[in-house]
Amino acid sequence: MAEPLLAVRGVKTYYGSIMALKGVDLAVHEGEIVTLIGANGAGKSTLMMTICGNPRAREGRIVFDGRDITALPTHEIARLRIAQSPEGRRIFGRMTVLENLQMGMVAAGRDADPAELDRVLAFFPRLAERIGQRGGTLSGGEQQMLAIARALMSRPRLLLLDEPSLGLAPLIAQAIFDIVRELNRSRGLTVFLVEQNAFHALKLAHRAYVMVNGTITMTGSGRELLERPEVKAAYLEGGRREAATTGH
Ligand SMILES: Nc1ncnc2c1ncn2[C@@H]1O[C@H](COP(=O)(O)OP(=O)(O)O)[C@@H](O)[C@H]1O
Ligand SMILES: [Mg+2]
Repeated sequence: MAEPLLAVRGVKTYYGSIMALKGVDLAVHEGEIVTLIGANGAGKSTLMMTICGNPRAREGRIVFDGRDITALPTHEIARLRIAQSPEGRRIFGRMTVLENLQMGMVAAGRDADPAELDRVLAFFPRLAERIGQRGGTLSGGEQQMLAIARALMSRPRLLLLDEPSLGLAPLIAQAIFDIVRELNRSRGLTVFLVEQNAFHALKLAHRAYVMVNGTITMTGSGRELLERPEVKAAYLEGGRREAATTGH
């Protein structure tokens, strides 16, 4: 198989003296959707942030497109076109949708490109309709769309998505996952998706990893993991029940 676009090898990340990632190995190939599932506190966000260089891996290596990025400053990592939609969205509430999207290009060190704006908005008609509205006045689902769209403005080679479905009604979460699938299908976008919502993430992903307490404990295709009894017991049955009771 070709070299992965992203390779994480033996990565250990600490908060002070506490080891949050205990030697993580994981790979994402060009054109794949790879998901990382795991319970709250497993270390999923820490891994995503470590890939972006903050916090830094204290041991191990992170290689992107053949280049060791383990020690690169975060702004240089962003310039390699690794874009992140962080947990909790972190859009700019007082800026308009348009200004938020423009910030996505600034972060990657690129000049605003009106053609790219149109290409991104084609995937998000709801944002196109709200282009002059302030970010803070959008619904949760729209804010999540904005966070993803903002990340896309840098034309990322790798899109990192941290819990895009968090706090969203099931139908809205489904709409977000459908957009991610479509971006991958039509643009070949490579996606690394971190999710507690294992059912949807595993259905969407080509390949998946399970993280427990800072360690990868299982890997396989999304479909394989969906069918494993230990995955069902730990991550799916509760999630389905929750989806059933909060759905409308
Ligand atoms: N800024 C921080 N300072 C200290 N500990 C942290 C910090 N962020 C996360 N942690 C701890 O690291 C572990 C992994 O957290 P996190 O990566 O956020 O997990 P997940 O995203 O899987 O819910 C947890 O035990 C959490 O309490
Ligand atoms: Mg998290």
